[in-house]
Amino acid sequence: MNEYIKEVLFSEEAIRLRVEELGAKITSDYAGKDILLIGVLKGCYVFLADLARRIELDCEIRFITASSYGKGVISSGDVRIGMDFDFEIENRDVLIVEDILDSGITLTVLQGFISKRNPASLRICTLLDKPARRRAEIEPDYTGFECPDEFVVGYGLDYAERYRNLPFVAVLKPEAYS
Ligand code: IMP
Ligand code: MG
Repeated sequence: MNEYIKEVLFSEEAIRLRVEELGAKITSDYAGKDILLIGVLKGCYVFLADLARRIELDCEIRFITASSYGKGVISSGDVRIGMDFDFEIENRDVLIVEDILDSGITLTVLQGFISKRNPASLRICTLLDKPARRRAEIEPDYTGFECPDEFVVGYGLDYAERYRNLPFVAVLKPEAYS
């Protein structure tokens, strides 16, 4: 195990089981529909890859980029969105797939962007929800796990572009930040 890991919060097995449940729930909630999954890069990439394979429906997969973090661990509240509009949102059943809902600022901005394009429906699926840090009024429709108020890495989540490849979600030791 990486020397900078303090504690594993969600193990590989726990995540696998939960992703299976989420996939089954989404499959039944959207039965008969053709969903558009929009992954928020980069943090979503592992979760989306696993989740999409547990959704037994026809679906289109697209990505957008959003970042409100530089190298630090505190949200600046300044969200940069990158999106190419070469895909239709109008009348689509859109499900945004995120790694973590923290302050909620990123998703609020995204939700606004997508809503303006008149989707048939718009829901949010997040692997982790950190409700303690919410600053915007936004709630996920699908949540993998409620996350304690700690900075976490792994399963797609990074600190300074590192640790995304850990197969579990963990908290780092203070030394990792120095
Ligand atoms: P929000 O706008 O504050 O909700 O921030 C959401 C984004 O911040 C997520 O998509 C993550 O990329 C990043 N983020 C928030 N908390 C963490 C964390 O604990 N670890 C890694 N990235 C985080
Ligand atoms: Mg990030």
